[in-house]
Order: sequence, then C-alpha cells, then structure tokens
Amino acid sequence: MVSKLYKEKILILDFGSQYTQLIARRVREAQVYCEIHPYNLSGDALRSFSPKGVIFSGGPSSVYDEDAPIPDASVLDLGVPILGICYGMQVLTHALGGRVAGAMEREYGSAVIEVLDESDLLHGLGKREGVSVWMSHGDRIERMPPGFEVLAGSRNSPVAAMADRSRRLYGVQFHPEVVHTPGGQRILENFLFRICCCSPTWNMTSFVRKTVKELRDSVGRDRVICGLSGGVDSSVTAVLLHRAIGERLSCIFVDNGVLRRGESDEVMELFQGRFGIDLHMVDASEHFLSRLKGVTDPEEKRKIIGREFITVFEKKARELGEAKYLAQGTLYPDVIESVSFKGPSATIKSHHNVGGLPDVMKLKLVEPLRELFKDEVRQVGVELGLPRELVMRHPFPGPGLAVRILGEVTPERLEILRSADVIVLEEIRKAALYEKVWQAFAVLLPVRTVGVMGDERTYEHVVALRVVDSQDAMTADWSKIPYDVLERISNRVINTVKGVNRVVYDISSKPPSTIEWE
Ligand code: XMP
Repeated sequence: MVSKLYKEKILILDFGSQYTQLIARRVREAQVYCEIHPYNLSGDALRSFSPKGVIFSGGPSSVYDEDAPIPDASVLDLGVPILGICYGMQVLTHALGGRVAGAMEREYGSAVIEVLDESDLLHGLGKREGVSVWMSHGDRIERMPPGFEVLAGSRNSPVAAMADRSRRLYGVQFHPEVVHTPGGQRILENFLFRICCCSPTWNMTSFVRKTVKELRDSVGRDRVICGLSGGVDSSVTAVLLHRAIGERLSCIFVDNGVLRRGESDEVMELFQGRFGIDLHMVDASEHFLSRLKGVTDPEEKRKIIGREFITVFEKKARELGEAKYLAQGTLYPDVIESVSFKGPSATIKSHHNVGGLPDVMKLKLVEPLRELFKDEVRQVGVELGLPRELVMRHPFPGPGLAVRILGEVTPERLEILRSADVIVLEEIRKAALYEKVWQAFAVLLPVRTVGVMGDERTYEHVVALRVVDSQDAMTADWSKIPYDVLERISNRVINTVKGVNRVVYDISSKPPSTIEWE
C-alpha cells in the first residue's frame, strides 16, 4: 500500500526490529505521515512512494551475515535524507565503504553519550553530564564511510551518531524511538523538520476530511454494509462512512447472546438514536445459545460463534438488498507486510480471526482505517463525536463472554458472569483505573468451593478477576491495582451476585499465560 493521499511522507524500511512500529508511531506523533515497508522495497516502488525522507529501522542481523537484509541500492539515489537506526546505521556504513565490526562487548540497555555536534540531528540535546540513550547492538561502526563525521560518541560506541551533511545521510547507534531514550522524540523531530523539512500536517482532522472525500469518490452511488460490534474499530468505521455516504450505509449488529449486560440497547441508542445510522439489530441470542449447548472446548466455542455469525450476518445482509461493499475496521498493524510482523505474532492473530465474511459474501472491501494505529483511530472517534467511554473501550473478544465462562455456556452462568462483570467495570472506573489498564474483566470458573454465609455453609461458584497492563496484547503483565479496589470488587461480587462465594485475582503474565482464560 502506498498512499497517494498525502504529499509529505516518510518511508520506514523495516530490517526486522521489534521497534519498527514504534518508529512509525513516533513519526506520526510528530504529525508526519509515514508507512512501514519491507527493507527490500524495489527501486520502482521506492521512486513511486516519493518520500521526503527515509528511516532504516534496526534489526537483529549483522551486515556480515550471509542472508543479511540489504536495501535496494537505488534508495541512495532518491537524493532524500536517510536516518539509519542501529542496524540501519550499519547497513548505511557498509554500503558506503565504511567498516562495521563486532563491539568489544554486546551493549544492551541504558548508555550515556557525549554530544559533539548539536547543529542539526542532535539539536538541543547537548548536556555536559551526557545524554541517556537506549542501546541494543552487537556490532558497531569501526570506520565511518568517507564524507561522514561524528556527532556523538560513547565509551563503547565511539561513533554513536554520525552524519554526511552534503548527502543528508545520518546514523545513530542507539534507539531514539524507545521511551528509554528521553531525547528520542526530539531527535526524530530534528530529522523530520530540520533535515527533511517536513511540516506537521498529519492530524486526525485532516485524515477525516480527506477520507470522507475519498470514500464519496470511491463508493459513488453504491451501497455499503458494515458489521457493527460496538467496539472501537467498527464504531469508528461506521460513523466515518455514515458521514461520507449517509443512508447508503447499512449497519448490522448481531446480538450473539454472549454480550455484556445492556450492550445491544446501548449500541442501538447511540448509533441509531444519536447518529441516525441505518442500523439493523438481529437478536440471535437463542440461536447461538442453542448451538453452544453442551460445548466446553474453547476452540469449538470460537468456531461455532464465528460460523453462526457469518450465517446470521449474511442472511440479514441479503434481506437488506443489493450492496457492493463490505466495510471493515482493519487497522494498520494488520496490514503491514514486513519481516518483523511474521513469526509468532502472526499465528496469534489468525487464531483470533473469526473471519471469513469477505470471502463468503463476495463483496468488495472498504477499509477506511487501514492506515491508522489504534491511538489514531481513537482520535478519529473523538473527532467524529463518539463518546469518550466508547472510544477508550477495552478490547472485547469476538466470542464474547463464551470464552470467559469456562465450561458450558448456560443462561444461568451467563447471568452470574454478567452481574460480576458490571461490578468489575464499575469499580475499575470509579478508581480511575479504566484508562490506565489494558483490560479488566471477570471469568467464571467451572469449580465450586465451600463458604459460609450467616450460619449456613454454601457451595458455590468462583469468579476470577483478570486485570492486565499491556501495549499491544502480545505481551501483558497482571496489573498491580490497589488492594482496596480488589477488596471492594470482591465484597460486592460475593455479597450481591447470587451463586458466587469466592473471588480470586489472576497474577499471571503473558507469556506464558494468555490474557483470556480460554
Ligand atoms: P489472549 O487471550 O490470546 O488475547 O492473550 C489477546 C487479545 O485478544 C483478545 N482475544 C480475542 N479477540 N477473538 C477476538 O476478537 C477471540 O477469539 C479472542 N481471544 C482473545 C483478548 O481479549 C486480548 O485483547
């Protein structure tokens, strides 16, 4: 994907660093549009992208590895500024006749550099006591290519930053994109504004304006169908499309019987009531619950819900008449085709994909958010007037409460979990933790434990409380929320949710555990 919409674009070539997405997010935070592409983007694609500047990411390789990733040589002929980060700097050095060698010791973690030249890339960073940066490398620059000079050095990396100003080529051995490099954003902004001469024009107001126009042009007089789940991505997709094409958008909301309490009413009220969207609710809860009867295997539950969703959705879409497009809330991290996004994370994603809808329905896809990161989608939501509670919503799995009820999903067990879930979310919000944690929810366990209530012994269900901190759900840590919040949740759940006499707190991190229990 090479967006033609934006005049000023930065190209990030990915050499496999775990931080590549972070570079892109930092550049976007500086209000400059950028895209990530594989390191070996062809010469034609490089020219047609027409970037204002290029950033080479880091990567796990050494330039001397047999299959070391090397960019197409024509990237140097583009004549635009290049910033090489870590491995990216080494590739630049290697390509231009410098020498890269193994460092005396592998450097990983915080380091202090001395800034020797503050005139452009490191402008505003010089401090007598040195500047903290985050290093993570095995190789280092032993001899800079001809024409380069040192901008900063450290004990382990005498060339911690370098430049050839005549060709506007720059390199840093450390990672400016991570939070552990406190001046990192400044360095990236120096590159974008002082060196590439970009202007900070990428913002969500301009995104909405351009996208609405583009959607009107591309959809024309045709009709679009959109599945609305009430989650952030599909909600923003729907409202954006509605702004562009009004009543030619029809949305379908499927109540699959495993939603949280009050959810379908809220969705109807907001999207149909307040936004005036043509929204069709299908209450298929009984149908789904009958299919889930007796099923305890987590993957089986997922499959049933995925399959039934497609059937119900397709039927409703057919009733609504001819449409040419299907709208989906696909985000940028799902479409980046690059080395660092293969591997285990790809498998995790496909496992969650209920998917299949576009293939079955033979409709053309409209994906207006495919250039955006999640935090940008939230900003678009705000821009479009969606309520903050919706825009900041935690992720909720497609198979809903079915994967939070361990064992069989029955109406009674759903009732217990829904009641507990309401309490958890209320208390988390009251304690001002909702926007600080990644997800907070209750899980109903398939065991009973003994308790006492009044003079009587009880033998009832256990609810597990799961609250996690995370950046992207790929890794997560259990959240150290205050004891008094845990106490209030536990007291309220045990005292008011009939059928529960014990609450436990999940203190597992991911990996090796997962966020959900099933
Ligand atoms: P896990 O449990 O794998 O979850 O650590 C990672 C993130 O994905 C969500 N999740 C799902 N989302 N369908 C979805 O749409 C699913 O089947 C599914 N399972 C887990 C989970 O809530 C977390 O945000």
